[in-house]
This record gives sequence, C-alpha cells and structure tokens, in this order.
Amino acid sequence: MAPLIQSVLHPAGVQAARLNQLWWVMFWVCTVVFISVLTALAMAIARGRRSASNASDATLTGSVGAAVGISVAALLVLLTASEITGRDLDALKAQNALRIQITGNQWWWDVQYLNPDPSLTVVTANEIHVPVGRPVGIVAKSNDVIHSLWIPALHGKRDLLPGRQSEIWLQADRAGVYRGQCAEYCGAQHAKMALTVVADLPDDFERWLSHMRGPAPPPATESQMRGRDVIERGPCAMCHSIAGTLAGGRTAPDLTHLASRSAIGAGSIPNTRGNLAGWIADPQHIKPGNKMPATGLASEELQALLDYLETLK
Ligand code: CUA
Repeated sequence: MAPLIQSVLHPAGVQAARLNQLWWVMFWVCTVVFISVLTALAMAIARGRRSASNASDATLTGSVGAAVGISVAALLVLLTASEITGRDLDALKAQNALRIQITGNQWWWDVQYLNPDPSLTVVTANEIHVPVGRPVGIVAKSNDVIHSLWIPALHGKRDLLPGRQSEIWLQADRAGVYRGQCAEYCGAQHAKMALTVVADLPDDFERWLSHMRGPAPPPATESQMRGRDVIERGPCAMCHSIAGTLAGGRTAPDLTHLASRSAIGAGSIPNTRGNLAGWIADPQHIKPGNKMPATGLASEELQALLDYLETLK
C-alpha cells in the first residue's frame, strides 16, 4: 500500500489547500509581528541604557500610536483571511456529491455509504474510499462520547457529538492514501482510533463501491466452512455483521470485506494473518479497554476462523 500521508502541510484536496494557505498567512504575519516586537524590545533596552529621560512625550505618543495602528492592521489581515477561507470551505457543497455517514465509537469508525435506495447502502468500518475530484459530504455522528474526525491532508477537524448530527465537505484532488485520526480525547484508546482514507480514481472507486455492495463470498474449503460456523455459532455474531451469513450484530465493526482493509483495530496494527490471530485471541492485549473480549477459541477453531476471514476480500 502507498505511504500514509497525515500532514496539513501536504494538502491533497481543495479544503485542506485553503486551510494550508490560511496557515501560511498566519505564520508569516505572526513571524513579522514576533520579530518586530523583539527588535523594538532590543532597541528600547539599548536606548534605555544610554539615557533614561531623552524621549519626549511626543515621540512616545507617536510610537504607541504607530504600534496600535500596525496591530489593528495585522489583526484585520488575519480576520479577512480567516473569513475568506471560511467562505471558500463552505463553497464545496455540490449536487453530485457522494454521501458518507461516519459514526464515532469507542474506539472505531462506523462507515455507511448512503444511497436513496437502502439496498445499495454500503456498510464498512475504519477505512473509507473516496473518488478523486468529486465532493464528499460526510455526515458525522457519535454513538457514545465526543470524538473528532480529522484527515489533515483533506480537511480540518470536525467534532462528532452524541445525539447531534453535523456535516463536513471534502474533496481529494489526487489519488493516495491519507491517514485520519480522532482529534478529541475520547478515552483510554483515543490514540488508536485512526481512519484510513483511500482516494481512488473515479473508475476504481466505482468498481470498489459495487464490489462492497456484494455479500461475503461463500466458503470454498472445509476449513473456511468451519470458520464461518465458528462465527455464526460463537460469540462473534452477537456484535459483528458479515453480509450473506447469520452474523448480524451491529455494535462492532462490519466484517463483510474485512480482508480488503489495510489495518485492524482502527489502524492499530496491519491486517496480517498473524496480527489478526493475536487480535482475536486477546484483543485486550493490543488495545486495552476496547469492547471486544478474549474469545478463548481452541487453536483449531482459530485457524479455521482465520482461513475464513482471509476470504472476506
Ligand atoms: Cu475518538 Cu478520540
């Protein structure tokens, strides 16, 4: 997979580019102010040493007046730049936008690609794909505490509030993989609440989305069949969903296309067979406090389960 980009200084979309411009305006204005203040201070100290009472009242009044004028002008520049950026950020909303609902949970992201036809809704978790060059309207919600969605290369932060829905708009302008991060302390595993954002070319995105609409493939081997049994008859199905199977829980990440995701545990560890085995055997070791209990599966059951999960592309 391409390297993850997580930097406001490397914007990959229009919204982030505008925020980046605002950041540089603020940086240079504040730098000039900082250097001017230090220079004035140094001059004042040098002069004060030479003579304490040389300055006339008129000179002092002039200096203070000029300083006030410059301060007001600097603040006006910042205010105007901030206003313009705010208006530009609001300008993105578009008719043909893709709509994604992202719901924060301790400590993972529930993702739904909304569609007027509910049968075409795609449910996934912790990894989203977006098409390059098309606006995306993200409906942001929370199921428990306050989280904050932040994908630095694409947009600024947006709080996810329980009982309240909000919306942000973003657009990726070049293909790549961007890392998002929960930006509001939300409990012990706040740091392990990452969101992977894959920006695809439009055709690749459509292919991905229509693949995601399909159910999990049926098991092809005896071991995979046994693995699916473990899920359907064991505790997994109480919390997780896999479309096309009896697993229909909605309190934990949807696993229908688990094997297509790059990481597990909301960006905690790469999605490899070994990591997945470690996670299933003892999730509390990798991400203490998360809601998944240790499964206590026999080794043979665990291997069958892994065989099955690896087919969920
Ligand atoms: Cu969710 Cu911090």
